[in-house]
Parts: sequence; structure tokens; C-alpha cells
Amino acid sequence: MADLVKPSDEVVNNAYIKDYESLYRDSLEHPDGFWENIAKELFWYKPWDKVLVGKHPYYDWFAGGHTNIVANAIDRWQKTDKKNQLALIWEGQDGKVKQYTYQQLNEEVSRAANALKSLGVKKGDHVSIYMPRIPEQTISMLACAKIGAVHSVVYSGFSVQALKSRIEDAECKIAITADGYHFRDKLVETKKTVDDAVKDLSFVKTVVVVKRTGNPVAFTEGRDIWWEDLVSKQDSICSTEMMDSNDPLFILYTSGSTGKPKGVLHAHGGYMVGTYATSKYVFNLQSDDVYWCAADPGWITGHSYIVYAPFINGVTNLIYEGPPDYPDAGKWWSLIEKYKVSKFYTAPTVVRALMKYGDEIPQKYDLSSLKILGSVGEPINPEAWEWYYKIVGKEKCPIMDTWWQTETGMHIITPIPSLPLKPGSACKPFFGIKADVVDEKGNSVPVNTQGYLVLKKPWPAMLKDVYKDPKKYTDLYWGKIPGTYFTGDFAKKDADGYFWILGRNDDVLKVSGYRFGSAELESAFVEHPSVAEAAVIGKPHEVKGESIKAFVILKVGKQPTDELKTELKQLVRKLIGPIATPDEIEFVTALPKTRSGKIMRRVLKAKELGQPLGDTSTLED
Ligand code: PRX
Repeated sequence: MADLVKPSDEVVNNAYIKDYESLYRDSLEHPDGFWENIAKELFWYKPWDKVLVGKHPYYDWFAGGHTNIVANAIDRWQKTDKKNQLALIWEGQDGKVKQYTYQQLNEEVSRAANALKSLGVKKGDHVSIYMPRIPEQTISMLACAKIGAVHSVVYSGFSVQALKSRIEDAECKIAITADGYHFRDKLVETKKTVDDAVKDLSFVKTVVVVKRTGNPVAFTEGRDIWWEDLVSKQDSICSTEMMDSNDPLFILYTSGSTGKPKGVLHAHGGYMVGTYATSKYVFNLQSDDVYWCAADPGWITGHSYIVYAPFINGVTNLIYEGPPDYPDAGKWWSLIEKYKVSKFYTAPTVVRALMKYGDEIPQKYDLSSLKILGSVGEPINPEAWEWYYKIVGKEKCPIMDTWWQTETGMHIITPIPSLPLKPGSACKPFFGIKADVVDEKGNSVPVNTQGYLVLKKPWPAMLKDVYKDPKKYTDLYWGKIPGTYFTGDFAKKDADGYFWILGRNDDVLKVSGYRFGSAELESAFVEHPSVAEAAVIGKPHEVKGESIKAFVILKVGKQPTDELKTELKQLVRKLIGPIATPDEIEFVTALPKTRSGKIMRRVLKAKELGQPLGDTSTLED
């Protein structure tokens, strides 16, 4: 594969932005002007007084402005012909299809918003959403935003404990869930998980349950209510709450290097402008696009690039409930053919998994509707990139390898369609973004040298704070290299200014694109009565990107058996969720530690991979 993959004339001619370099230069010279021009494309009840104000590291974007992200995602289309365009096409794993025009989506969201109001939910209240990938998941999120409530979505693959700690931290009075869903041929009982999670949380007053499978579920009198009974009787008109640009929109928990997941807080205005701009320019969104981001709305990719940005851009948004290779490995390709998807956005782990089934499978389907492909969540290796480019995109669809995070809210380092691509590189900073690769003192490192990826300017969709933990916000993100936002990723920059993301530098794992902290996994292991201590590392994995390996020290007298390994795997599944199932467990009698007692996971990993151990001067023994 060539080092530089140039876009075709057709791609460049159709692109909104034809000359990345000059606009980028301009956007850095006049960032306020750049973002202001984009914000002006959107609806505001009251325009902002200033584009950016703040006292480092707290920033207010579009300060003084009044808007609501739903006013832009849904309301503004109602007075235009777009109200008759399909906003959302949903297909279930069982083949059931539901479609909503922008007008119908507005009606559904309004009913759900009125339903929440009837339950006493007000502006600023927190609502937990723990749902499978069904339309009501998206509708609930939009309904919360519409009335100014703050959603806290928990991915439906998380377990009781993980859900409970998130509901507890965010003090959600209401939880919305479904009776269950089928993942492949297994029934996942989401309602039961919610029951177990909230049973000791007396502040949870109501649990709303969508009927997805019809499997019998227990109902707690006075607390539980069917979505269908509650929502269908509501009025389909509901006024959208006028929000201050910096009022909170959602909390989304994400794993970090310290034990407990952090509640990342995002606000309406800046997040709206940032996700709108990036999706528009990166995917070159056009009003007749059928856009499919195959993530789950439970993660940041789904929040930004399923639930909000596509609707703000007025495209037709496809959501599919099931996994890529069920009932067969052609399922997702068949959906691209069926719905004539033009923009498709997925994770490298999916590409690698589907690649294993061979070229013949995608070749059986008509994928000619595709125009742009996207990748997110972890580095895409050149082999997978090439397969995606050649076999899926037929060498005519540029691949947008978008680097960003829960915290950044929007794409940060990313190609745009007119930019020549380098397979495996996330390419260049988005407009207005000042990124650099530095050493621990904050000095830029030479080209092609590994360093810390940092951001040197605020950006509109940046997190506002860590919920209830401002110290984490200031210290973990802005305190490591003063004055810059510390991403936690290693990267290098080449002579052409292309960024290459080299993985995390902070004990955060990316397993099939899912983010876990070593410490979070370790605390699950030590819950077991036989375990004295555990250390977890990520190991390179052909399909998943990284796999989870745990080193476990048992308590005196406990036997290291295979049964115990199975028990420990079950325990981690139970405490965090099946997505966190450890791949390997090794019983050991000691762990490498610093003299102050901190486990040196870096040393464990180097040893495991047969690499040089690096600086071991602080090693205790
Ligand atoms: O390590 C980077 C990796 O995913 C991390 C952020 O994870 P999360 O908050 O779960 O958000 C994932 C979806 C935006 C980053 O710190 N990452 C994300 N995108 C890429 C990536 N690594 C390499 N290339 C990417 N395109």
C-alpha cells in the first residue's frame, strides 16, 4: 500500500473543505471566528456574548448564549420540508423495522419528554438510561435533553454493580430500561439488572420499562411503569427548554487510571457546535446521506455521532440492534446494501473480526452506495485499514480514522475527505485544535519520536468537569503538564505533520474498543475471598486490539486451580460486565512494585511481551 493515499478528484470536488492546510492555519489564527461562524449555522434562542471565556482550566463556550441541542437536532427541521425525511431507521436483531421521519421523531421525543415531566423530572434532574440499542434509547436521551434533564447512559453490557455505582454517583431519580433484549441467541435481562442495582437506592423513585422482548419481568408496585402505558397517552407537543450554553447535557462515566470510573460532564452549546462541525466536515454530511455509525448510544461515539450530530446535520440515521456476525458474517454488509448506506462508521475491532471471514463475504453484497468510511476507538493497524479500504470501500471511499475521547466529546485528530491519507495515521488536528507531542516537561519532541499527546487550546466539545470531582478534572487532565490537556495517549508526529497514535500511557486498556482501567479490573479480582492482590495489563490481540491479562497473588493456603481461574473470570463478569471478561489469569507469588508499594504494571507488561524492562531504578526488588 502506498504511504500516501490520495483522494480521487471526485472526493475532493464533493468535499466541503478542499484545502485543509489554509483553513487550519486560519482557524488557529482566529479560533473564535472559526467556531463562531459554525455556531451561526445553528439555532440559538439568544446569541452568545463571547465565544470563549474562562479561567484556566474551566472554560465557557458561547458564554451567555441560549440554546438546546434538541432545538437543533429536531425542532429546527419541523418548519422545513425535512420534517418528511426519514430521521431514523431502526432494525432489530430479529428483523423488526421501525422508521421515523423528523416529524415523527419530534412527536415521539415530545411524548417521552412529557412523560418524564409527568414523573416530576425537571431541568437539571438526572436520569439513568440503561437500554439496549432500540429507538427508545435514543428517544429517551433526546427527551431528557429537550426538557433540560441530564442523562447518564450506562451501556447495557454493564453488570449490576457497575450500573449501581453510576446511578448512585449521579443520584438519578429515574431509570429507564427495557424488559430485556436478545444478544445473539441469549436473553439479556436488563430489567432484572436494574432491579438489583436500585434495590438499596431509595432515591430512585421510578423505573420506566420498554417492552422489547415480552419476557416476564418482576414489577415493583408504585415504582415501575411500562413505557408503552406512560408515553402513549402523552401529548405529542412539548416545548423545548431554553438552556444556557453551558448548562449540563449529560454525564457519561468512563474508566481512567484511578480506580473508579469518572463522570465526564458535557454541556449543551459547545458540545453541539463541536459535534456538528466535526461530523459535517469529517463525513462530508449531505442532507440525503444514509449514515450509519454502528456503535452503541451507550458510549461517547453513540452520544456524539448517533444521537446528536447526525440529526443536527439532518441526515437519515440508521441504527441496527445486533452484532456484525450474527446470524452470519454478512449481516452488516447486507444492511449497507439494503439501506444504501453512504457513510459508515465503525471500530477497528469490527473490521478485524469481519476480515477474518474472508473477502468473499463483503464481495457478495452491493456496497456501491458507500462514500466515506470511518474508524474510531483504537488504533487501526495498516492491514485492517487496507482491507477496509480495498474490500469494503473499493478504493474509492476515504477512511476517516478519527482520534478522540469521551472527554473531548468530538473528533480531535482526524482526516477530512480531501486530505491525503496515511494508513494507520489519524492524520491531522481538526480545525481550531492545537495538538502536540511533548516530553514530560511539555517540550515538543522531535519528529518521529514517541511522546505524550497533548492539546494546547480549549475546544468547544471539551468536558466541562468531572462530576463531583473537580480535583480529578484539574489534576488528571490539566495538571500533568501545566497549561495543556493531557490525553493519556502516546503519539508521534511525522515530518508531514501527521499524527500516529501509539496507545495509552496510563494503565487504561482498550479491549475491542471498550475502555477499562487496570485498577478498576484489579479491584474486581480482590473482591474474591481467595485473592490477596492482582495486577492487570493489556496484551496485544489480533482482533480485540488488546486482551486482558491478570496476575493474581492468592491468600496463604489458597490453591491455584483452573476452577479458581474460572471463578475469577465469572466474578469480573459479574462485577463489571461480560465485556470485561479476562482472557488470561496467571497465579504468581510476587508482583513488581516500587519502593512505595505501587505495582509497576509497565514492568509486568514488558516482561510478558519479552521487551526491555526500561527504567527499573524505583523497583523494590
Ligand atoms: O487511546 C485512545 C483511543 O481511545 C481512547 C478514548 O477512549 P474512549 O473515551 O472510550 O473513546 C473512544 C471513542 C472516541 C483514546 O484516548 N482511541 C480513540 N480513537 C482512536 C484511539 N486510538 C487510536 N486511534 C483512534 N482513532
